[in-house]
Amino acid sequence: MRAWTIDHSAPDHLALAEHPDPEPGPGQALIEVAAFSLNYGEAVGVVPHGENGTVPGWDAAGVVVRAAADGSGPAVGTRVVTLGPGGAWAELRAVDTDWIGTLPEGVDLGEASTLPVAAGSALRGLRRLGPILGRRVLVTGAGSGVGRYTLQLAARGGAHVIALTTDPAKEETLRALGAHEVVVADRGASGGAWLVERLSDGPVHGVIDMVGGAIRVAAYRTVAPGGTLIAMGHSSGAAETFPHGDFAGPLGHDRAITSFFLLHDGAGIGADLTWLAGLLASGGLDAGVGWRGPWTGGAEALAALAEGKVPGKAVLDLPSAT
Ligand SMILES: NC(=O)c1ccc[n+]([C@@H]2O[C@H](COP(=O)([O-])OP(=O)(O)OC[C@H]3O[C@@H](n4cnc5c(N)ncnc54)[C@H](OP(=O)(O)O)[C@@H]3O)[C@@H](O)[C@H]2O)c1
Repeated sequence: MRAWTIDHSAPDHLALAEHPDPEPGPGQALIEVAAFSLNYGEAVGVVPHGENGTVPGWDAAGVVVRAAADGSGPAVGTRVVTLGPGGAWAELRAVDTDWIGTLPEGVDLGEASTLPVAAGSALRGLRRLGPILGRRVLVTGAGSGVGRYTLQLAARGGAHVIALTTDPAKEETLRALGAHEVVVADRGASGGAWLVERLSDGPVHGVIDMVGGAIRVAAYRTVAPGGTLIAMGHSSGAAETFPHGDFAGPLGHDRAITSFFLLHDGAGIGADLTWLAGLLASGGLDAGVGWRGPWTGGAEALAALAEGKVPGKAVLDLPSAT
């Protein structure tokens, strides 16, 4: 099979190379990949720093061509969406059946391929906030792929959703996706109380933070007692310095910060992916594809993603998809 392969001697750290077909383990199905989606963490982390000769890729959708030997998972011919620690950017992929969701009729394979990392992280991050019905939830980096799914799922879960973006041009889109309020922040913002002052209706129950740095520091100040900030992403690349007092006295009382990494929280994600695909099918979720092209354009799409030039998710189609 052919696969995008880490090659640090190539200008983009990637080459389309021949590999032996993957040999699935007993609890794995073999998938013919029709489309895969790209993530920021792959563009700036996995590709430039990954191990030479390995096939990257977390998200792929396609069709089962060999069912798992242990009898688990979908049958041959089932259209599926898959998550894995690598191997998605290839013609064939072996995946644990626990990490496979099935697709209803009518769901586009490219749109489905955006679900695993982006919508899976959004769903599982929001669950960590506990019940959100009637509560205020702040989403930072709201214009990101994960952010857009987080807004939609938080609104569906009954939260009052506040989107924080650094791009004023995204405001209308974020409202259409479910944000009840949009805060436009400066990328050069500092920590401190400015964000508390912008939220005129008081503190929030939860924050899903995709940005880190000073925005994380400011967002933590908005959390009510009993609430939680989930440190999901680090798009700013900046460190966090919390002012003295943020963890003491009235400001510091009973507010939590916790971290999250989907690939270490993936048990049973196949069932979640099946549910999310059902929402896509019914029009209850917008995949927000902002870039779509043939998989031969992988390096170009990754560069655009790393530079913040993709408004939403980037999807690449294999010839088998057409
Ligand atoms: N923990 C996990 O398991 C997990 C899973 C998936 C993703 N992530 C992380 O979540 C983040 C988003 O991932 P993605 O793939 O959805 O990214 P993406 O679609 O490429 O979006 C990145 C967004 O981050 C914001 N941003 C970028 N640079 C910024 C800066 N200097 N200051 C403030 N905001 C900035 C922008 O949002 P606005 O335009 O709205 O300001 C931008 O649209 C990444 O850090 C990624 O590594 C973590």
